[in-house]
Amino acid sequence: MNILVTGSNGQLGNEMRVLSNRYPGHRYYFTDVVEASDTYILDICDGSAVSAFVQEKSIDVIVNCAAYTNVDKAEEDEATARRINAEAVKNLGEACRRVVHVSTDYVFSGDEHKPCSEEDAVGPRTSYGRTKLEGEKILQEVCKEAVILRTAWLYSEYGNNFVKTMLRLGKERDELGVVFDQIGTPTYAADLAQAIMTVIEADEWKPGVYHYTNEGVCSWYDFTIAILREAGVVCRVKPILSSEYRYKTPRPHYSVLDKSKFKKTFGVEIPYWVDGLRRCMQRI
Ligand SMILES: NC(=O)c1ccc[n+]([C@@H]2O[C@H](COP(=O)([O-])OP(=O)(O)OC[C@H]3O[C@@H](n4cnc5c(N)ncnc54)[C@H](OP(=O)(O)O)[C@@H]3O)[C@@H](O)[C@H]2O)c1
Repeated sequence: MNILVTGSNGQLGNEMRVLSNRYPGHRYYFTDVVEASDTYILDICDGSAVSAFVQEKSIDVIVNCAAYTNVDKAEEDEATARRINAEAVKNLGEACRRVVHVSTDYVFSGDEHKPCSEEDAVGPRTSYGRTKLEGEKILQEVCKEAVILRTAWLYSEYGNNFVKTMLRLGKERDELGVVFDQIGTPTYAADLAQAIMTVIEADEWKPGVYHYTNEGVCSWYDFTIAILREAGVVCRVKPILSSEYRYKTPRPHYSVLDKSKFKKTFGVEIPYWVDGLRRCMQRI
């Protein structure tokens, strides 16, 4: 298959690049807005460029790793977030019959106290969540074979993320205050990339919305303790409340995703978040 990966300079895009070596039967086109080695320039907001690229390279599947992911900045500039997270996603769905698109736990309110399934009511509280939800809906309208994978708390050895920030701060400071009243599941982007390849490699194409994170749950406080422990960094970590941390944008209190549908449909097991963290730390 000819596979177009968008946003391939980001966390997930880079993990797709690494994983592609294990699936040499396909031809990959890695693209992003900024040039990098082995990367074609492709702005997903440019509908004609997307359509020309798909036709020229006879693309069979688009894996959309491009997004406007800065939650705080999206609050100040919802128009730009909407252009990338929603309007551009339509370009992809119109250009190619099969799109694997990545979405987020932020489509939910985060007020529930049980894992959210794909059937649960959405209710985004942020510009980022709203624009990502719009992207899901637009894609489903124009692309009947779309696969949408909602994920959460993504980290990788590439790009900026919570793991790298905590490693840096843990080395710089004697004490860190980290919130313990937000619960979710850290997700290693390499495992999500594997999930995407599982979708592509399946015997038949299975469109729909799926939830995919690593297994288990923790708070940001627990996650920080695990990161510093794995790295052997000595730093006192103090549990604090969200109200003590000056968030610019509201964060979901409980954003655990129920992954039963993905596991059942594709017949796979999902790695526990601590195992994912260990594998990532070995690579950092
Ligand atoms: N990070 C998380 O914790 C998290 C949680 C839940 C869901 N997700 C979702 O998971 C997916 C992957 O996230 P990630 O963390 O890998 O994102 P990321 O590291 O921010 O990477 C996104 C990439 O897309 C590029 N991009 C931005 N606008 C573009 C455009 N118009 N055309 C082409 N490329 C463009 C970005 O370039 P620039 O950097 O130059 O803008 C960046 O290289 C996204 O759909 C995201 O919404 C992420």
